[in-house]
Amino acid sequence: MKVRVAINGYGTIGKRVADAVARQPDMTLVGVAKTRPSYDAHRAVDRGYPLYVAGNGTRAEFESAGLPVAGTVEEMVRATDVVIDAAPEKIGGENAARYHAAGVRAIFQGGEQAGVAEVSFNALANYGAALDKHRVRVVSCNTTGIARAAAVLTSKFGVESWDVTIVRRAADPAESQRGPINGILPTFHLPSHHGPDVQTIFPKLAITTTAVVVPTTLMHVHVNHVRLTTPPRDATAVVEAFRGTPRFHIFAAWEKVDGTPQVMDFARDRGSSDVMENVLWENGIRLAGPDLYFFQAVHQESIVVPENIDAVRAMFKLAPDAASSMAITDAALGLRGRSVGPR
Ligand SMILES: NC(=O)c1ccc[n+]([C@@H]2O[C@H](COP(=O)([O-])OP(=O)(O)OC[C@H]3O[C@@H](n4cnc5c(N)ncnc54)[C@H](OP(=O)(O)O)[C@@H]3O)[C@@H](O)[C@H]2O)c1
Repeated sequence: MKVRVAINGYGTIGKRVADAVARQPDMTLVGVAKTRPSYDAHRAVDRGYPLYVAGNGTRAEFESAGLPVAGTVEEMVRATDVVIDAAPEKIGGENAARYHAAGVRAIFQGGEQAGVAEVSFNALANYGAALDKHRVRVVSCNTTGIARAAAVLTSKFGVESWDVTIVRRAADPAESQRGPINGILPTFHLPSHHGPDVQTIFPKLAITTTAVVVPTTLMHVHVNHVRLTTPPRDATAVVEAFRGTPRFHIFAAWEKVDGTPQVMDFARDRGSSDVMENVLWENGIRLAGPDLYFFQAVHQESIVVPENIDAVRAMFKLAPDAASSMAITDAALGLRGRSVGPR
């Protein structure tokens, strides 16, 4: 049986998740919904995705733009087993009652409060917690990056404490209305909300986070200082632990990836502008006694995409554990985890 999946909100996250659903062997894409005609709506039609009208949008508006409409969002919801809500922040929370009333399961994104769902989710960290659940929340891009790294470090070495400074991209590439253009903005909410969000998955993790916003659209970068409980003799063991885990991409020093511009160029060279893996630099991982320092980059537009797919698989028990679900997802998405060693 294929699980029927609908996407409500077809923007940065929704369009990538729709593409990913369409590639899974055990899922069918019912359709996508948005409120207005736009180039994104054209993209959906070009790809053969049934297009539904959401919110206060009208069929006439879409049809006058030459976009065929399959129906209303309510009709889409009735025709599906699970809705992945990727509407702007807070709208997902408002939609929750509608999904519940229609008797369909729902996945929400990190812009919603944790209380919208029964469980906050990251495949590597807590796949089992979402088995057979009806409402699951895939945590935000930054939280996803930290949760994946935490799954590795807590299980291999133990974590006594963790401080992260999140260097945040100011906007997504298409958000031309946002800034800053020239400046670095401290986030005065101290510590930032990301730490408590990580604790929705790792309740006992002693993590604190702070954030600054910088004028870039490419990726976020995390500056991590982790005190390990049982540190290895040298950093090689940490590098190998990350390298041996799916959804981590470790650049070797000889690859000459100075920062996020080369990461994105690398992505384009492999045929996409998305990087769904945590990106680490081998020469950006250092161990001093129990203190681990490492940088990681997070592609905000795409890192949560495979997690949405695994969330569906967990909710419908299509795969019994994280490893088997992630293997199906990653094969379908072409995530091969190419991480080279020293040359
Ligand atoms: N972008 C990121 O970096 C990122 C990363 C991780 C998680 N998230 C989370 O993912 C969620 C979606 O964010 P996003 O960045 O993808 O937002 P986005 O790019 O603004 O896309 C949202 C989409 O929803 C549509 N929409 C607006 N009102 C709607 C409604 N009432 N019903 C259905 N669709 C509606 C919008 O198109 P129309 O206005 O044309 O309808 C737009 O296509 C948020 O919770 C966000 O926090 C975002």
